[in-house]
Amino acid sequence: MTTQLYRPEPVSLKGAQPVDRNTSPGNAVMRLRKGERLMVTDAYSTGAEILDELYHALRPPRDGASYALRQGFKRAFRDASLRLLAPIKNHRLALQDSQHIEFLRELYADTPDFTLPFVQVQELFGAWQAYDHGVQMAVLGGKIHPYYGTYAPTRTSHLELFAQWLRGYEGSKKTAVDVGTGCGVLALLMARGGVEHIVATDTNANAIKSVVNEIARRDGAVPIEPVHTDLLGDGDTPFDLIVFNPPWLKGEETSLLDRALYFEDALFERFFDQAHARVAADGRVVLVFSNIMSLVQPEVPHPIERELEAGRFTLVSRLQRKVRATRSPGGRHRTTKERVEIWELAKA
Ligand SMILES: C[S@@+](CC[C@H](N)C(=O)[O-])C[C@H]1O[C@@H](n2cnc3c(N)ncnc32)[C@H](O)[C@@H]1O
Repeated sequence: MTTQLYRPEPVSLKGAQPVDRNTSPGNAVMRLRKGERLMVTDAYSTGAEILDELYHALRPPRDGASYALRQGFKRAFRDASLRLLAPIKNHRLALQDSQHIEFLRELYADTPDFTLPFVQVQELFGAWQAYDHGVQMAVLGGKIHPYYGTYAPTRTSHLELFAQWLRGYEGSKKTAVDVGTGCGVLALLMARGGVEHIVATDTNANAIKSVVNEIARRDGAVPIEPVHTDLLGDGDTPFDLIVFNPPWLKGEETSLLDRALYFEDALFERFFDQAHARVAADGRVVLVFSNIMSLVQPEVPHPIERELEAGRFTLVSRLQRKVRATRSPGGRHRTTKERVEIWELAKA
């Protein structure tokens, strides 16, 4: 498994035609959709306006549209947007009205001048803001600083439900593993809840970097050991708690962050095999899940129910909580049947 941090790779400038504020965004969008490569040469706002125009020209699907329709839109936008380029000089975005993005230095120490797709510069900028300022998490009683390329929760009902479960848990808290730790939020919750040693794993090297930095921000005063590995990793020491907030939908990965959202066929089978071998005799396997898969992919067999039917584990408890309504871009409350869930399993 490569420990190299993930970053958007520089692209060639060859054949790219210049665009600036004198180019109409509609004209630029037409050319991008035809396959032409364009380079923004004057200002950040020029690139942002073109991508905004592209987004609307491709007709974003409405709330409640099918998974296939949403994936199709996402792919079409991604394909066309990657053809709009932005210049980086001396680790800075070489456009007027652009702001500082330290990741252009940190992730590209080997190359000061290069070209990136504009949309990836926007993502690096958003990620830098979140990392630098931190994201407030009431459930943690403070901020979390997700590193670039790391999944960070945007809603918190499932984290609050996990915290509620942990408060009621009366078993041993000596050792735990947070499988697929992301930016480390469940590991930090367990540390706050009195777990004495927490191994935090992820296959994504950026997630591990995120947790390493998060521990350093706390001067090392949290008992978390980040490990870059698949699922529970090597070794045979048993864990009192095996915690996993897996991807909640079955689907194909088209980007690194998709690994946080979509699971491939064998993920749960492999997880349960390892969890069965590593959970302490009176320990618990705890999954943070949601009914979203049953709502939007009813044809997919439920991975936890399927494991329970196989008889290796018994269900100790299942907590459920309604997901708080969000507002649509128009300001209206979105109603949802979505529930987040905590599944607490013990060895049969
Ligand atoms: C839904 S996110 C959860 C992140 C975090 N635990 C949280 O609750 O916010 C799933 C995480 O699992 C990681 N992941 C996916 N497959 C994995 C695997 N086979 N082994 C370890 N981590 C994995 C992803 O990189 C991602 O960080």
